Amino acid sequence: MTELASQWAEVQQQAKRLKPVHLRELFAQDPNRFAKYSAHFHDLLLDFSKEKIDQAALNALLALAKAAKVEHWRDQMLSGAKINSTEHRAVLHTALRGGANANLIIDGQDVNAEVAEVKERFLAFAEQVRKGEYLASNGQAFTDVVNIGIGGSDLGAVMVTQALAPYHDGPRTHFVSNVDGAHIADTLAKLNPQTTLLIIASKTFTTAETMLNFATALAWLKVGIGEENSGKHLVAVSTNLERTRQFGIDDSRVFGFWDWVGGRYSLWSSVGLSIAIAVGAKNFQALLDGAKAMDEHFRTAPLAQNLPVLLASIGVWRRNGLNYPTVGLMPYDQRLARFPAYVQQLDMESNGKSVTRDGTAVSTTTGPIVWGEPGTNSQHSFFQLIHQGTDVIPVDFLLAANDHHAKPIPGLYQHQTVLMTNALAQANALAFGRTADEVRAEMQDSGAKPEAIEELVAHRTFKGDRPSTMLVYKTLDPYTLGMLVALFEHKVFVQGIIWNINSYDQWGVELGKKLATALQPIVAGAPIPDSLDSSTRGLIEHIHQLRQEETL
Ligand code: F6P
Repeated sequence: MTELASQWAEVQQQAKRLKPVHLRELFAQDPNRFAKYSAHFHDLLLDFSKEKIDQAALNALLALAKAAKVEHWRDQMLSGAKINSTEHRAVLHTALRGGANANLIIDGQDVNAEVAEVKERFLAFAEQVRKGEYLASNGQAFTDVVNIGIGGSDLGAVMVTQALAPYHDGPRTHFVSNVDGAHIADTLAKLNPQTTLLIIASKTFTTAETMLNFATALAWLKVGIGEENSGKHLVAVSTNLERTRQFGIDDSRVFGFWDWVGGRYSLWSSVGLSIAIAVGAKNFQALLDGAKAMDEHFRTAPLAQNLPVLLASIGVWRRNGLNYPTVGLMPYDQRLARFPAYVQQLDMESNGKSVTRDGTAVSTTTGPIVWGEPGTNSQHSFFQLIHQGTDVIPVDFLLAANDHHAKPIPGLYQHQTVLMTNALAQANALAFGRTADEVRAEMQDSGAKPEAIEELVAHRTFKGDRPSTMLVYKTLDPYTLGMLVALFEHKVFVQGIIWNINSYDQWGVELGKKLATALQPIVAGAPIPDSLDSSTRGLIEHIHQLRQEETL
């Protein structure tokens, strides 16, 4: 048996031992669980003491990470090795925040020098827009910026801009991603083309949704301000300069990045232009600095204290040891409302794979289904199932100790206390539950009759033994947000290495795109070929019957 196989077997063995042991029992056995199963970096605390884990299990997981050569692959990534094997690309989003090795040359490019040059250009442009130095064609300052992009060219910028709302003192920012015309129509309806800047963000500059949204927005712009004035209102963010030129976007307003930055890892690049326009170059730099600090921690901290490695190990434990297929990601931080959506792409597009790096079928389950909503709203919708449903759904809580507001109003301190209290209460209820005897005692104390107690006791009992991890930070400032995002990026990386999959390609999105291209003329009215399956044919025929004549 190889070292790796024997460590996998050890993890399974530990999981078999611990699965029947209730979290109540684990806490009763060891009053020091919090101290033992928590770790810090800066003001970030990772508390995983409410996971069904003990020292032997943790040791097994860390030994598995070691046997999977996580440290070797991490160093390979940071040194610019082409670890994205199916696309023959390096993976260097860390270089965007200054976290990659010095003197890095990839395919003849001086990575750090190029990153510095593009960063200087796009941050300078962001400042010019903010200060009213780069003006709209009518000579006025831009009031609104619309970022048109999808997936990695959208989600990071949306999430960060919302998260950093207290720092938003630049023009208003809007994001259009969905090809559904409602998205662009509802966005543009509120805007004045005279003072609106469009950023077309697309790594490839070929993504169908983005190109169509761009065409529609451009037509709107031309009608509003005239074709001759539209050029000044267009900015592109892309690796594909040939295509941006084909679209007539002036090179001076094209901000590049590189094929060694994956779309879902790109918010740190010029894809973050809308963020920089919203919050300014200084805050954008603080975001990068926070991520860089996490890179450094990931690079240097021993595995047992390494937050990304610990978070990844907990995920492997839940997924492969205890066989939980999903994870709930619940930010108790309203401004992180889009964090679950962002992490969905980061995690599920990276680790939703069924073959290993060499193309053979995986022998373990891989990436979990990630989903979530901010607390406390989530408590009043789906937490019922997490507490009492038939599946165990581990939860990751994110929690700020302090709120902060650009324009505080009286009473907010109390909100934060209530918010935090709720997160703590949920984690507690999930772990320890409420026994039937406790329900009986409580109901008796409140004067309920014995028949009423027996009627409800089963319904009011909580089994507990439902694991959760809590990430607590001081305040959601740009630096902290940078640390948090990089933490999740590296967690995904570590899990990909442990599962021996390539986390940096995304072939699974190809087929749907190809079929959509083929079906488009048929949906638009071309004859339906005989080869089409009966379901798709039936749906298209039905849609044709329902579809109204185009009037615009
Ligand atoms: O379809 C998935 C995807 O390729 C993502 O990986 C990417 O972030 C998104 O589409 C957008 O791609 P682009 O930036 O090239 O428009």
